[in-house]
Amino acid sequence: MPETRMPRPRPDTLAVHAGREDLTGLGVHVPPIDLSTTNPVPDVDAGGASYDNLASGGRPQPGDTLVYQRLWNPTVARAEDAVAALEGCEEAVAFGSGMAAVTACLIAAVSAGTPHVVAVRPLYGGTDHVLDHGLLGTTVTWTTADAIAAAITPQTGLVVVETPANPTLELLDLDDVVRQAGAVPVLVDNTFATPVLQQPRRHGAALVMHSATKYLAGHGDVIAGVVATTPEWARRLRAVRALTGGLVHPLSAYLLHRGLQTLPVRVRAQQASAQVIAEHLAGHPAVAQVHYPGLPSQDPQGLLGRQLAGPGAMVAFAVRGGYAAAAAAVSRTRLITHAVSLGGVDSLIQHPASLTHRPVAESARPHADVLRLSVGLEAVADLVADLDQALDQALDQGADQARDAAASASSR
Ligand SMILES: Cc1ncc(COP(=O)(O)O)c(C=O)c1O
Repeated sequence: MPETRMPRPRPDTLAVHAGREDLTGLGVHVPPIDLSTTNPVPDVDAGGASYDNLASGGRPQPGDTLVYQRLWNPTVARAEDAVAALEGCEEAVAFGSGMAAVTACLIAAVSAGTPHVVAVRPLYGGTDHVLDHGLLGTTVTWTTADAIAAAITPQTGLVVVETPANPTLELLDLDDVVRQAGAVPVLVDNTFATPVLQQPRRHGAALVMHSATKYLAGHGDVIAGVVATTPEWARRLRAVRALTGGLVHPLSAYLLHRGLQTLPVRVRAQQASAQVIAEHLAGHPAVAQVHYPGLPSQDPQGLLGRQLAGPGAMVAFAVRGGYAAAAAAVSRTRLITHAVSLGGVDSLIQHPASLTHRPVAESARPHADVLRLSVGLEAVADLVADLDQALDQALDQGADQARDAAASASSR
């Protein structure tokens, strides 16, 4: 019989099946979880050779023992393979958190003798902080999207960007960033977009980083990070991971891998609600400004469709009345949880200047009137109703404060 040719799996198919190709052959339907911290060594010489290979970032070769979980874990490797497939990358390396993933990239740059980083704000507050602090031996030049090339020096080891950016959803043209970076590798934090909406490697980015804590795992019960990249970078990052121990636990990797199966469906559904919410907020009297790439005039470079398949499910908005009104609104939602983090099945709202972006230098911190909303899978009408009642109370409180202020002014 002639062999039937299957088309290359589409992203939705990859999400369900990547990292699971061998399961039928193993006679199981879901991936086995390997919790071994150590692995038997057949003999001293073979064990030593396996150690050398894995500790220098190599993948296990036929006959290798895995030696020790800090060097390799099969459950983690399955999740890594799945993220790599979704990002259109050859390999991926998982870490104990998004910050551990960023840290590994920075350590790799420092150890290559190129400790200078060029970065464009806004970035997630933790990434901003570790760069600004220089804790890992890096130095940073903060610049704007059009001045990346001018900021690069012979010491530059990485260009770091985030698009859409946390918290205010600014978009960057990745083709242009990569062009300006030239030979310097570009690290893109793709946490907000997910590979469902944007695959930075296709635009030439060397390193695609995620806080997998967010959309990839998707249910608020995993802390993990991952970098999808080239085989050469993957080797370097695994070597850093083996040395520094920034591991993800196999149970977390299992949950991350499972979360990936529903990622495209979740992102599309959450995005559809986010569009409705962004449009609603744009007409709300308590809202001064909405940041959402799906609103008119918020994608001046025409990146939607070209780089970003959709505007995503994160919405930021400025509340009229400044910090007091924003703080009042954020603590009055009833269905939407007032909490940091994002990308899960339930909606979360938070005040970036006080929490996620607190460590950012004051001059670069998000404005005090801005709230960030991660839109979940609840019925959108319920989310709109919750936001309305919270914002209406903030409006009422603002009106009361204005009345009190006017009364005390007139009695003076
Ligand atoms: C865009 C972005 N990048 C990186 C991180 C850091 O990830 P983690 O909290 O998993 O260390 C976060 C966390 O909120 C984030 O939002």
